[in-house]
Amino acid sequence: MSNCQGFNRRAFFGSVVAAGLSGSAILGADSSARADESPEQAQPEKFMASYPLLQNVTETSASISWALNVPSTGWVEWGTTPELGKFARNSEFGLNPYETDFLSARITGLAPNTKYYYRVATSSFVYRTAYDKTASEPQYSDVYSFETTGPKGDIASFAVMNDTHNTLATIQAHIERVEELKPDFLFWNGDLCSDYMDAKRVKDNIANPSNTPFAAERPLVFVPGNHDRRGQWARNLKKCLTTWRQDDPEFYDLGFNYAFRKGPLAAVVLDTGEDKPDWHPAWSEMANYEPYRELQAAWLAKALARPEIQSAPYLVAFCHIPLYDANPNANPGNILDRWASIQWPARQMWGPLFEKYGVQLLVAAHQHRFSYAEATADRPWAQIVGGGPEMNNAYSIHAEATQKKMTLTCEKLEDKSVAGTWTFKPRV
Ligand SMILES: [Fe+2]
Repeated sequence: MSNCQGFNRRAFFGSVVAAGLSGSAILGADSSARADESPEQAQPEKFMASYPLLQNVTETSASISWALNVPSTGWVEWGTTPELGKFARNSEFGLNPYETDFLSARITGLAPNTKYYYRVATSSFVYRTAYDKTASEPQYSDVYSFETTGPKGDIASFAVMNDTHNTLATIQAHIERVEELKPDFLFWNGDLCSDYMDAKRVKDNIANPSNTPFAAERPLVFVPGNHDRRGQWARNLKKCLTTWRQDDPEFYDLGFNYAFRKGPLAAVVLDTGEDKPDWHPAWSEMANYEPYRELQAAWLAKALARPEIQSAPYLVAFCHIPLYDANPNANPGNILDRWASIQWPARQMWGPLFEKYGVQLLVAAHQHRFSYAEATADRPWAQIVGGGPEMNNAYSIHAEATQKKMTLTCEKLEDKSVAGTWTFKPRV
C-alpha cells in the first residue's frame, strides 16, 4: 500500500533516502535490501524505535503512539479488514505532524465491540531549508488488530503492573507474565520511571522495554503516579502515553481520567498527582494538583452515573496513591513531613462517590508493599496495593470478570506464588 498523500511524494519532496521496510524488520537486524542498492543503501535506517502502543480505546475511538529513531512524520492506516484502507494522522491546524521522539494518531468513528485492524507508517523527514528537505519512503509496522470497548461480551480481564521505576528486568518480567495471562487490558499503575529528564528513558523503559509488541493489540492503560511528573521531560510524556479526549467542555483540563465498559467489567481511572501538598517547598511552586483532584471529583460523579457504567456487573477503580491505609497515622499527603502514604484529600472527595455508585475494588500502588484490605461497613470497597520495583518485591495483579463472578489474583512476579485470591459477586 502506498502512502496517503494522494500524490507522488518522490517527485514532490525530491531526494528519497531509505528503502521501504516491512513491519517485522522495524526493530530487528537489517533487512529489506533491494537488489539494486549499494551496500551502504542496503543498511536502511529503522525509523521506528518501538512497536505500536495501543491506547485510549473507547467504544468509538483509539490512539496509537510509537517511538522514533529519527525525526519523522507518520500516520495510522486502519480498517475493518486487514486490507485497511482508512487513514488517521494527528494533523494540527492543517499541518501534518513532524516529531523527533514519538508519533501518535487517533482513530475516530469506530463502532462498539468491533474488531479493527491497523498498521503505522513512518517517513523520515529532514529539513535543511523550508524547500530543501529530504523525505523517505514510509516504513510500515505489521498489521495488528484490536477490539473497541462496549457492553457486549461475557468476559473481561486485566493485568496490572506498578512502581517499576525504570527497572528494566522487572518491567520485562511483568510483560512476560502478561503475555502468558493474555488479559484484555494492561494497566501500568504509576511510577513507571523515577523521573523524566529525556526521551530516551521513555523509549527504553516504556515504549520498547522488551523488544516485543506487548501493547500493539492489548490496550496499555496508563495510571499516572507521583514520579511520572518529575523532571524536565515529564511534560512530554503525553507524546508517548497519549491522553484521553474529554467530550464535556467542563473537563477539557483532564487527560488521564476515563471510564470504560468491557463486557461485564467497568473501570474508572483517577490521578492522585504528587505525593506532597502543592505548597511543599520541594515543588518550587510547580505543583497545582489540589484543584486538579477537585475537578476529577466532578468528573467522577458524572462518569460513574453513565448508564453503561452503572449497569456493569463489576466496577473497579484505579489510582496510584492508595486511598486507605490500615495504619490510622499513615501520612495523608497534605502535610510538610515526608510523603503521602495515602491521598487523604482525594479520599474525602472520591470516597463518597465510590460508595454511592458501588465501586467494589480500588487497585492502588505507590507503597511498594503488597496489601489487601477487605471492604467494610464504613468503606464498602476493597483495596489492593501492588509491590515495588525489585524482583523480590514485585507483584502481578490480575483479574477476570465473567457474568457469574470476578476473580482477583495477586502473585509474586518472581515465582508466581499466589499472595491471595479474592472473589467478587456481580453488583447488578
Ligand atoms: Fe509512587
